[in-house]
Amino acid sequence: MKVLVINGPNLNMLGIREKHIYGTETYADLKNLIHDYCQKEGIDVDIFQSNHEGALVDHIQTAYFNETDAIVINPAAYTHTSVAILDALKAVNLPAVEVHLSDVGSREDFRQISYAGMACEKTITGKGFQGYIEALAYLKEKYQK
Ligand code: DQA
Repeated sequence: MKVLVINGPNLNMLGIREKHIYGTETYADLKNLIHDYCQKEGIDVDIFQSNHEGALVDHIQTAYFNETDAIVINPAAYTHTSVAILDALKAVNLPAVEVHLSDVGSREDFRQISYAGMACEKTITGKGFQGYIEALAYLKEKYQK
């Protein structure tokens, strides 16, 4: 099974940015956690992060052409603004799970809308790095059925 894990702006700043919200672990720690889990579960994973909306759209499109089976996405701030990312997810039409490290539901009003979430079959929020593992486990189970 081949999975794309795609992360939006400022997630490369984990461990530096707003530690009271996102914790002290770094983006490298997140990548290691995902790589270790995927290796154990036999998942072929591509982990991608960009601060640029178009680069995220390009990478979602690439997932279609390289026969990726599923997507885990944390669009970060673009969650709440990007119709382009929503449309890209709809275009590739792959099973997708939206992940947020923080509990966006209990944060500012402007974080209450998720465009990307409209193209995802599940949303996991407020579970930190573990949210990515839950998303991968969910997609793997679905793939095996
Ligand atoms: C986030 C939540 C977003 O609202 C925010 O813009 C982020 C991170 C999260 O993982 O909790 O950058 O997606």
